[in-house]
Amino acid sequence: MSEATERSLVLIKPDGVARGFVGEVIARIERKGLALVAMEHRLTTVAVAKEHYAEHAERPFYGSLVDFITGGPLVALVIEGPRAIAAFRQLAGGTDPVEKAAPGTIRGDFALEVQFNIVHGSDSAESAAREIGLWFPNL
Ligand code: TYD
Ligand code: MG
Repeated sequence: MSEATERSLVLIKPDGVARGFVGEVIARIERKGLALVAMEHRLTTVAVAKEHYAEHAERPFYGSLVDFITGGPLVALVIEGPRAIAAFRQLAGGTDPVEKAAPGTIRGDFALEVQFNIVHGSDSAESAAREIGLWFPNL
């Protein structure tokens, strides 16, 4: 029996775009076998950024995270495949690119600082549904 198909919301954050990792990240998604359902290069409003990271609203890094994510263009994607949510989190690696992300992952290979960790991926089916609705309301 194959696993149920899922969708996940992925962001190639402004640091990833500025450093030229759009193609690298998309290549890793495709090589894993995940499909691209939607993709958009765009600037993010403060309202969308705050909503996207609402779970962190009380954390000390929230303001600087919102500033960072709205500070330049990013690439938002919806990906699809069996266990797409966990599969992309595996490709991304842990949040801290030095202490948690293993070499061979996007963050483990390309990032040094927690805030500048290149990519976002939904962390659960509930988050994915919420985030896809926020970034791609017409999907
Ligand atoms: P989080 O949801 O914990 O991580 P992930 O992106 O792996 O789901 O945090 C969201 C983002 O917030 C994270 O990618 C980078 C930023 N962040 C900081 O800047 N400082 C921190 O201490 C943490 C935990 C996160
Ligand atoms: Mg998260």
